[in-house]
Amino acid sequence: MDEFHPPPLHKMNTTPPRAFQALQEAERGLQALKEAGLIRKQRLSQSACATVQMFNGRAYKTFCSNDYLGLANHPAVVQAAQDALGQFGLGSGASHLISGHHQAHERLAERLSSFQAAHIPHVQTLTFSTGYMANLGVITALASLSKVAGQATDEGTSIYSARLNHASIVDGIRLASRQSRLKLTLFDTEDLQSLETQLMADPMGHKLIVCDGVFSMDGHLSPVTALLDLAIRYDALLLIDDAHGFGVLGEKGHGLLEHLSLNSERLIYMGTLSKAAGGFGAFVCAHQSLCAWLFQKARSYIYTTAMPPSIAAAALQSLDIIEGHEGQTRRAHLNGLIACWQDTLQLKHWRKVGSTTPIQPVVVGKNELCLQLDQTLQSMGYLIPAIRPPTVPLHTARLRITFSANHSTEEVQSLAHVLMDLENQVMHP
Ligand SMILES: Cc1ncc(COP(=O)(O)O)c(C=O)c1O
Repeated sequence: MDEFHPPPLHKMNTTPPRAFQALQEAERGLQALKEAGLIRKQRLSQSACATVQMFNGRAYKTFCSNDYLGLANHPAVVQAAQDALGQFGLGSGASHLISGHHQAHERLAERLSSFQAAHIPHVQTLTFSTGYMANLGVITALASLSKVAGQATDEGTSIYSARLNHASIVDGIRLASRQSRLKLTLFDTEDLQSLETQLMADPMGHKLIVCDGVFSMDGHLSPVTALLDLAIRYDALLLIDDAHGFGVLGEKGHGLLEHLSLNSERLIYMGTLSKAAGGFGAFVCAHQSLCAWLFQKARSYIYTTAMPPSIAAAALQSLDIIEGHEGQTRRAHLNGLIACWQDTLQLKHWRKVGSTTPIQPVVVGKNELCLQLDQTLQSMGYLIPAIRPPTVPLHTARLRITFSANHSTEEVQSLAHVLMDLENQVMHP
């Protein structure tokens, strides 16, 4: 008798498997995004991060990186990474709590603590692999303070989060709400009176206010002094995400807390090493007891491989530059570029944001117009990607222009003129 061989599964005439429906749904979803002008794309970079960079075989003047101090390809930083690579190899091999915590991580954490020592009493630091992971870890761990061992019930945590906070904060809160009893209130940084009213009436045992230090899509500084005042009066912790202020703000580049001369053990300071420091990774500084709690509970610290030691070694070199004379010189030049931009760029229809940081967006409103400008600028040899909802609020699509200390005054001036000409052509064709 002949043996029966069933046809291969993919040739059987059966109803489409579930995955096939998922494919159709993905295609429909993509089409909807396309029609709304919300399809995202990436560009293929072929050279080091710089103010002139190769993409798809062409050189572009870039005004879009977060390499504010121009350290991403700084010879001393690259050399520090190379030396550490030669000495310690590539990977850390394990998570911090197993065997991956290298002396370079320890030195980096100590150095970062010294940066915030004047602002957070008894400060200690944890390094994370990314800022996204730092926010996830710190928010979930702080929310879990309300159900510490020994207490019969979870008292719950109230989180007050600024409406324009970064996606990683939003996601940290979403995750925390699955693990802890949590009440979320969104607030506007321009209406702290209503934030106060809500804090005053809040019966929850634990309160956490979370705010970007510098809003990543606006460049505005958040009112951290007033927020700290509220935190003190209403017994809350204050978490500041200073991803875009660290290295840029303050006399020594220590960030927003230095810039505003703040000091409190209620402050939890999160910074990234991927922006002004030019490398990769992030850190959280807090009072030693809070830091010890994060160490025990921040799952994105515990359950992931520690960053390569060479990255930590390079970050140490960046910190030397940031704190030293060269950092000061670079910040002074950057501030000169910002002033020049604010003086030169005069717009009639689009909105120039009056920012004092290297983030200098031009808000044009409609997604389609923004995409069109992105394309026109590309054809002129500029790379300034359109930023659209949901990254920014509806009807506020923008060109997120950023400066680096490696830009020259002339480059900034010519970009301002290019944009003024474009506005003229588009609005008065
Ligand atoms: C305000 C803010 N927080 C956190 C992050 C995340 O940092 P990382 O890129 O290191 O994950 C970013 C980065 O884009 C940011 O802009």
